[in-house]
Amino acid sequence: MARFIPKDLIEEIRGQNDIVDVISEYLELKPSGRGFFALCPFHSEKTPSFHISPERQIYHCFGCGVGGNVFSFIMDIENIGFVDAAKILADRAGIDLPETYDSKHYEEKMALSNKMYEINTQAARFYHSQLISKIGRPALEYLKSRKLSTKTIRRFGLGFAPDAWDKTREHLKDLGFEEDDLLKCGIIVQGKENTYDRFRNRIMFPIIDQRDNVVGFGGRVMDESVPKYLNTSDSPVFNKSNVLFGLNLAKRRRPLKDIILVEGYMDVIALNQYGYYNVVATLGTALTLEQAGLIRRYAGDAIVAYDGDIAGRRAAIRAIDMLTRAGCNVRVMIFPKGMDPDDIVIQHGKDYFNSLLMKSIPSVEFQLDILKEDYDIKTQKGRVEYVTAAAKILSKIENILERDVYINYLAKNTGFRSELIYRQISSMTPERQAKSVKKDFVGNNRHISIDIGSGSRSSHIITEKVLLNLMAQNENIAKKVRDRLGDYMFEEGIHRELIAIIDEILNEGSELNMAKIFDYIHESEESQQVMEVFDMQIEYDDIDKYIDDCINRLEEYKLKRDWKQVQAQISEMEKGKEYDLEEYTRLLERAQELNREIVILEREGRE
Ligand code: GTP
Ligand code: MN
Repeated sequence: MARFIPKDLIEEIRGQNDIVDVISEYLELKPSGRGFFALCPFHSEKTPSFHISPERQIYHCFGCGVGGNVFSFIMDIENIGFVDAAKILADRAGIDLPETYDSKHYEEKMALSNKMYEINTQAARFYHSQLISKIGRPALEYLKSRKLSTKTIRRFGLGFAPDAWDKTREHLKDLGFEEDDLLKCGIIVQGKENTYDRFRNRIMFPIIDQRDNVVGFGGRVMDESVPKYLNTSDSPVFNKSNVLFGLNLAKRRRPLKDIILVEGYMDVIALNQYGYYNVVATLGTALTLEQAGLIRRYAGDAIVAYDGDIAGRRAAIRAIDMLTRAGCNVRVMIFPKGMDPDDIVIQHGKDYFNSLLMKSIPSVEFQLDILKEDYDIKTQKGRVEYVTAAAKILSKIENILERDVYINYLAKNTGFRSELIYRQISSMTPERQAKSVKKDFVGNNRHISIDIGSGSRSSHIITEKVLLNLMAQNENIAKKVRDRLGDYMFEEGIHRELIAIIDEILNEGSELNMAKIFDYIHESEESQQVMEVFDMQIEYDDIDKYIDDCINRLEEYKLKRDWKQVQAQISEMEKGKEYDLEEYTRLLERAQELNREIVILEREGRE
């Protein structure tokens, strides 16, 4: 999105807004070494792990991984888009921001989105007014029978879609909206001859995103007819797989220690009524990685509170997988069969719900218990199969202390000795042993030690990171590295992206630094990966020699990789009955050639 405000202007805005000044308007900063620490506003913590570097003009939380420049900070803390953040910062620095940006396309897109939000907002108002009018009497009674208070109904802006084909359409047209836009918005549907209201005779649940825009609706019948719920179809502003119902209310309570994930609208609403504001639901679909990422953005811990039936448990397994991948600590609440959180809290009260919440179990324990049901652990065979499958789950736990807890849990449950289970897990993860937290990077006559994050796999990936870190310091180093790299392709996707960004900045001939690179990065997942690169402190005596060392390493890696490939081809040929002698000779020569180059590089490295 950075493209839609002239680059020079972005540059100027960033230059005029010192990151320390800006962040200190939001957080209390404590000086430390070359920077400042603060309590992270994006996750709940007691000791500060949110670091700001005045030198680099970037921030990074060691606890939850967020990071970026002054623009991304404003975007995240205010929950606004880039252009709005730029406006705030321009204002702050007294810079005039022209109202018209050079991209027409962007303007049009924004205008369309705004119109969709406006239509949905007006529709929500209409539905609500219907609910509290005479027409909505049965609907209101239904909600009262579900024990919802007037306050709750108002807080969620619940409504009623009248039992008619055109009431909503006509109301919105009276307000001046075009039929075309109502169609785009999914509030009306195109029939054979006419358009008609999508929602009829349903209780309406406005779906509001984390930026407080009404993006769509869920509509529930008041009897047993089907479908029970109807959602807005996908629109320019509505995509079921990236919204979470209730997040707009939850995020106001930031920082949140945890977020409770439930299955239904009614669960979110009922729990809210009882004072649980940190509750969100998907819209009847399985949790996506994107949604899990949203949860992770607002809280470190997630509590899965799905129905106690088979379908609910299956959905829970998938949600746990997504949430774990997004980096959440996950716990699971167990409900009596046939009950959902709404039933529990409405029928049995807050205390009972709270007791179940207290008894929530770590997701791994839940996974092991569910898995156990597939095996007959009374038999020898069943026990072996169960533990083998369980070991696979445990092998994914990074923290060995945590893993130990579950090994013991499993041992207790099956009667196998812990050591045996431990060995079974080790045999499944050969690469895990090779991985170490700290690796030494030894170059010519100097010794540099680098912390590698958990994402790093092997030494050439670290070398890629080191080179990118150097390039991001200034354009001179970047040019040097660029020249030496030639057409070497970085292996990591995000590294290739960074190279492309750096190339673009170099081509423009403008200044290059870490804060500037963040102008090009808009996904929080990406910025975390980029922080992994930028966060390394690299020391060297002689920059040119150091770069040479790094490039040699990459070349050596590439040669060895090619050599392995050629060797594989050769042995493949030798296995076959017939082979092309010419091709075979060529491969042998190529292998020899590669071998020579590797030897030369290795000798250089030792000198
Ligand atoms: P109540 O039955 O009123 O308590 O609602 P609930 O939210 O508990 O519903 P349920 O547990 O049956 O379903 C959970 C969620 O799945 C709902 O909130 C909806 O988002 C979705 N869902 C349920 N039924 C349907 C359906 O028929 N169609 C669609 N599109 N979604 C549904
Ligand atoms: Mn329910």
